[in-house]
Amino acid sequence: MGDNASPPPERARNPMFRTKSVERSIQDTEEPEHALRKSLSALDLTVFGVGVVIGTGIFVLTGQVARAYAGPSVALSFVLAGFVCALAALCYAEFASTVPVAGSAYTFAYASLGELPAWIIGWDLVLELALGCAVVAVGWSGYIRSLLASAGARLPDALSGVGSDGLGFDLLAFVLVMVLTAVLVAGMKLSARFTELIVAIKVLVVLLVIGAGAFYVSADNYRPFLPPAQQVTGSRGGLGAPLVQLLSGYTPMSFGVWGIFTAAAVVFFAFIGFDIVATAAEETRRPQRDVPRGILGSLAICTVLYVAVSVVVTGMQKYTTLSVEAPLAGAFKANHAPFWADVISFGAVVGLTSVCMILLLGQSRVFFAMSRDGLLPRFFSQVHPRYGTPYRSTLLLGGLVAVVAGFTSISELSELVNIGTLFAFVVVAVGVVILRRTRPDLPRAFRTPLVPWIPGLSVWSSLWLMINLPGETWVRFGIWMAIGVVVYVCYGRRHSRVGKAARGER
Ligand code: ALA
Repeated sequence: MGDNASPPPERARNPMFRTKSVERSIQDTEEPEHALRKSLSALDLTVFGVGVVIGTGIFVLTGQVARAYAGPSVALSFVLAGFVCALAALCYAEFASTVPVAGSAYTFAYASLGELPAWIIGWDLVLELALGCAVVAVGWSGYIRSLLASAGARLPDALSGVGSDGLGFDLLAFVLVMVLTAVLVAGMKLSARFTELIVAIKVLVVLLVIGAGAFYVSADNYRPFLPPAQQVTGSRGGLGAPLVQLLSGYTPMSFGVWGIFTAAAVVFFAFIGFDIVATAAEETRRPQRDVPRGILGSLAICTVLYVAVSVVVTGMQKYTTLSVEAPLAGAFKANHAPFWADVISFGAVVGLTSVCMILLLGQSRVFFAMSRDGLLPRFFSQVHPRYGTPYRSTLLLGGLVAVVAGFTSISELSELVNIGTLFAFVVVAVGVVILRRTRPDLPRAFRTPLVPWIPGLSVWSSLWLMINLPGETWVRFGIWMAIGVVVYVCYGRRHSRVGKAARGER
């Protein structure tokens, strides 16, 4: 396609809003030293999607959120969060099928909104994926320890994770991330096969929760389905309350209708990952057809499973008594079915492994794309001569995530991950509309329906979930993004390849 279309000059009045043409993005992927191998199909992508989407969100957060914010109506929160993701997915699918190169929202933003917004989104995505991976690794380690405990074994306390005093080291989480980093360096195809197997086990376990759990459901546990609103006390007051409640001057509340929204903003974590399918576009054989199928397919499967699991689990056990660490297994234990509880714990361990791996893959690809564009040092975008993988960015980020996972407790990290992801959704939806106007000529294998209405609704619904996150999450997110702007101004702006080309430099 590149030869016939006439790209606009890569020159903008304000250098920070210069765009990288779509043709140029595709051309970059064809440079031999920086090219990734194209080996994935639509099925691989769907497996990737399901592999990363079903994880800590459903296995851990369901119980926490039902207890703290929504009761059995957490099922509605999953529907709401799924709806927001479906709108974003329709936008992602158009972008991914138009700009089939590594980097996800980052690449899409570069082609439509300009370099600074692209940098911001890339920086935001690295945070989201890295912290998401760390959260999942720590959750995985907790499940392993619980299985070890069933077998009568235990690790020394100092190596069993960070305690409430902030001290300790999570050895298992650290080792998991390092091993997965090595798998990714060794090659995409290997990791896709590895993923297929664990995704199959994970989906079977989720189906088991639904199928076997349905026999233990008691209608009493659904009363009240929507618990009455209660005033929040303790650490979730102050800046810990959702921004929307702080701004509107309400006393922070849990449960009731507000509770459904607060819970939706948290369980949104359970859907994170479908967008990562788009980051693998460059490694897909027929991206125009397969990427939209992969994204929408994995999202649809997960939404149905989540709603079913949350309905079953809150029907098996009173929401006030759900376990906050392993609610799915806990619900079976509460019904005197320890065998099924252990099978589910095993499935959770297996499932969280695949989530962790794909988040790691996604973040290294975003970093890779930013480095290839010169916004981060080009050193990181050399691919491995034998494996064809971006091994330097994978090793750097894998090492950092392993350390974060080893030394950090997960409690509020997931909210930071959510705000970052929702922000990316907003940028992508805006980008779809802009690119339709600036490049109507580009072939689009998938077109978002009802533009600009669907992208507009996607922006508003993502913003709505964002303001239902705590004020302190907004503060942390603001700090991270401010650091990103400083890095861009001091490094990326000068080293950008698009910028150098515009100035006639090499
Ligand atoms: N959606 C993924 C999970 O729930 C990140 O673990």
